[in-house]
Amino acid sequence: MKIKRIALFASGSGSNAQNIIEYFSENEGVIVDSLWSNNPDSYALERARNFRIDTFVFSKKEFINSNFVVEKLKERGINLIVLAGFLWLVPTNLTQNFKIINIHPALLPNYGGKGMYGMKVHKAVVDNKEIESGISIHFVNDKYDEGKLIFQEKCPVLASDSPEDVANKIHELEYKHFPRVVEEILNSID
Ligand code: GRF
Repeated sequence: MKIKRIALFASGSGSNAQNIIEYFSENEGVIVDSLWSNNPDSYALERARNFRIDTFVFSKKEFINSNFVVEKLKERGINLIVLAGFLWLVPTNLTQNFKIINIHPALLPNYGGKGMYGMKVHKAVVDNKEIESGISIHFVNDKYDEGKLIFQEKCPVLASDSPEDVANKIHELEYKHFPRVVEEILNSID
């Protein structure tokens, strides 16, 4: 059995990243190799360190104008990059060299694109009186939230729901489905 290695990218709290780390902790065929962030204050870094996972922080220049990240990921034998609340647009040198997936907290193609992240998404959903929202897991290309869809799941939005209520429902869906979908994608890679 060939062991598969995941690199997680996160900018914020990292609860999805931790959920993925925990999900694969008993799986001998999958290693969560490292966690990468653009934000030195990201709590995701601390979560990863608590699991003795290597962490890396990079600058915009290193990410966009150099091969620093690509080279390091290649050295480490990464099979899949998983974006879990990562806010920067991914440059072509990464999309061309790696299989990359992202989770978006809405039903793409709605409520996606530049600037649509975190509570902004849930606020827009509530402001527009949507009756449902959900999660979208998709491949990443070099445009925000436009890669091929892999999986979606819906949840109802009630008239009485606040953006925070919607965020909680979405997180539940994310925790339930994201690790499983990551596993399916890994299984499809030779
Ligand atoms: C999640 O809702 C995810 O869909 C989005 O960013 C949020 C990250 O939350 N891309 P967390 O940092 O995993 O808690």
